[in-house]
Amino acid sequence: MNKILIANIAKYVGEEVELSGWVANFRSSGKIAFWQIRDGSGFCQAVLDTKILSEVLWKESEKVTLETSVKISGVVSRHPKKEEYELQVKDFSFYQIAQDYPISKKEHGPDFLLDNRHLWLRSSHQWAIQRIRNTLILATYEFFNQNNFIKIDSPILTPSACEGTTELFEIDYFGEQKAYLSQSGQLYLEAAIMAHGKVFDFGPVFRAEKSKTRRHLTEFWMMDAEMAFADLEENMRVQEELIRYMVKSVLEKNQQELAILERDIKPLENILKPFYKITHAEAVKRLHELGSDIKEDDDMGADDETILTKQYDNPIFVTHYPKDVKAFYMKRDPVDNSRVLCADLLAPEGYGEIIGGSQREDNYDALLERIKAHNLPEEAFTWYLDLRKYGSVPHSGFGFGLERITAWVCGIAHIRETIPFPRTINRLNP
Ligand code: 4AD
Ligand code: MG
Repeated sequence: MNKILIANIAKYVGEEVELSGWVANFRSSGKIAFWQIRDGSGFCQAVLDTKILSEVLWKESEKVTLETSVKISGVVSRHPKKEEYELQVKDFSFYQIAQDYPISKKEHGPDFLLDNRHLWLRSSHQWAIQRIRNTLILATYEFFNQNNFIKIDSPILTPSACEGTTELFEIDYFGEQKAYLSQSGQLYLEAAIMAHGKVFDFGPVFRAEKSKTRRHLTEFWMMDAEMAFADLEENMRVQEELIRYMVKSVLEKNQQELAILERDIKPLENILKPFYKITHAEAVKRLHELGSDIKEDDDMGADDETILTKQYDNPIFVTHYPKDVKAFYMKRDPVDNSRVLCADLLAPEGYGEIIGGSQREDNYDALLERIKAHNLPEEAFTWYLDLRKYGSVPHSGFGFGLERITAWVCGIAHIRETIPFPRTINRLNP
């Protein structure tokens, strides 16, 4: 008898197979029982019939509880109308009969579910989200591999800030100096492009932000990409291709998961069209028409991004932000010195920023001036300034937040559901 995964069940119609999993749901009429089995790779229905099972086995089956782990064997059949499969059970044994499972079909509050995250991961919605996240990760590696980028692993313990200094997690480093948890590997990738041309990293980053919004985590997964000899336009072109590739992968591989999440896929199918491009100045004008009181020199807040992106059916690049609201390393716009050559990519349907990127300051003196103006410790950036001394080149890069992209693709409201074990300002457990 074949031991199978539910993902492959279609190949075994009419055959007797064995599978192992958990009972995600069950009901019984007293003569016939239906168990919904989850084996990790998918879901199927097991049918237990008093006409087929021995009396002893039927009695045993009545001990089943939610999340009981089982080994089952039986014959596979296909639903006459739907792409669904059933197992006519011939035999089974329990690995363990689960105790009273705390998560039931009734509504639970978010705090309760997050306290039980170690169990909540099993529910069908959460299962679907992690599978889509996995596809997005795989697609990222595939895309860069096909486009001559190599992966460079940047450090997590760092001596200085990459983004704002107010959002740094500080660590005592052997009582001798302070270390910080990385906010982004970008600066290290800028060193690596001088050796490899095109590089990316992908790993956990940390922000000690005291924000309690639905789009902020204190630990999240960022992918940074960096390219030598690329300007802002080229940077946006690569981002657009990457995001298109990622969304197409999900549409190809995760129809079942998108259906579980009841995601309307029409907005995702728009990904084939070119993305929108507007300048920060144009965005501010648009926002004023939409009732926002954003000032010309303001950064865009989460609320502004929400109202703006609700107006669009595809991602939008917002370019040329005022220099004072952006990081020290961004290159000034030669046309308007008060702005920088940057672009944030905002996801539509109200989701907002998923990527931040820019052309980098490649001139030694201009960069040193920015480091001083931002009150950053010059010593910590000597190595970074060195890159502008030995064969400096125009270069650009960007970074995405995996959880923000996953939330948008899945169509869910809060990014804390997109990471297996979320860390936020008030949550470190489980
Ligand atoms: O815009 P950010 O801060 O850009 C950087 O860190 C650059 N150094 C990246 C680069 O150019 N290589 O962060 C990049 C992305 C954001 O667009 C957002 O998607 C995500 O990271 N992000 C967060 N995701 C979850 N929780 C947070 N607190 C986040 N902060 C940023
Ligand atoms: Mg940003």
